[in-house]
Amino acid sequence: MERRRFINFFFGGSFLATLAAFLYPVIRYVLPPKQAEAVQKKVAAAKMGDLAPNTAKIFKFGSVPAILVNTQEGQLLAFSAVCTHLTCTVNYEAATGTLFCPCHNGRFDMAGNVISGPPPRPIETYIVEVVGEDIFVSKKA
Ligand code: FES
Repeated sequence: MERRRFINFFFGGSFLATLAAFLYPVIRYVLPPKQAEAVQKKVAAAKMGDLAPNTAKIFKFGSVPAILVNTQEGQLLAFSAVCTHLTCTVNYEAATGTLFCPCHNGRFDMAGNVISGPPPRPIETYIVEVVGEDIFVSKKA
């Protein structure tokens, strides 16, 4: 092999190997994984007695926060805790009996409807089921 041809082959191959080593992780990062994240449909949110009346508890529903509310009347209600405006986490405000988003003062009633603030749509409500001492929360079909 002549010298010039060998040098061109050597540096051309090195350049391609460097380019591949740079692009491979970028492509792996950009493309979604073949297996989607598992969707959790039902979680054990709390035990009976964990929540006094007019209090709430944030829990994880899969990878997102959710909130379990024990109303003043002792009714258990569950909601997504992700605000429909810009995805801040909502809290239960005992004084008003509403869900409150501290980011932009969004407020939801106990049916999930927007009372005030910028949220564009109601917050997602979940089904609450009590089995023995456990409180399970599941997504609506
Ligand atoms: S993120 Fe909740 S009101 Fe803006």
